[in-house]
Amino acid sequence: MRRPYRIAVLASGRGSNLQAILDAIAQGSLDAVVAGVFSDKADAPALAKGRESGAVTASLSPRAFASRADYDESLFRLVDDVHPDLIVCAGYMRLVSEREVAARNGKMLNIHPSLLPAFKGLRTHQQALDAGVSWHGASVHFVSPELDGGPVIAQARVPVLPGDNADRLAQRVLEREHPLLLASLRLLAAGRIDLAGSQVRFDGRALHLPLQLDPDQRLVEQETTP
Ligand code: GRF
Repeated sequence: MRRPYRIAVLASGRGSNLQAILDAIAQGSLDAVVAGVFSDKADAPALAKGRESGAVTASLSPRAFASRADYDESLFRLVDDVHPDLIVCAGYMRLVSEREVAARNGKMLNIHPSLLPAFKGLRTHQQALDAGVSWHGASVHFVSPELDGGPVIAQARVPVLPGDNADRLAQRVLEREHPLLLASLRLLAAGRIDLAGSQVRFDGRALHLPLQLDPDQRLVEQETTP
């Protein structure tokens, strides 16, 4: 029998993306197991969610380490112990050192609340409002050493509405972010998405534009730039 697809989650906070993964697995709509949940914050609600699910959990405080490289070496030793097929950064608020990323090229994902390459970093919803864009959203991308800079797999677009503030916009993006992550994980778990160097491939072909989440929560290829 095929071994279940093993996901490790790195999270610093609330853990709604982790919960979406756990719920999808429990409902049978994602054929995978959350093998471990890891955090830089001992009191992260995401860790508690991981514990409740029965996953291995661990937190390491960055303050206990002399450098980012030392921290990451220890953290990823714990991560590797759960033998993940994929590592998902879901609200993980630290940059990962180049060495650890390079050792896991194509095996680490991040979910970011903007249509990358627009609005990297923090406070993306306010950045979008300040820029006056009509469309905002979320992106799932492979992790590279550059902040929010790795190859994008898939995006969900969300209109900016009159009267939006950062909280309202964030809420609507989050509602699309969860199905975006789940749909991406289904394709990865099925082996339909991979990374060749820095090129995302979908069903073995180079993907030139990110997949888009359609209203039925399915990922579709883009014909032209919208
Ligand atoms: C999400 O908006 C994600 O895109 C960003 O951090 C937030 C994490 O939310 N990277 P949660 O902890 O999964 O609820």
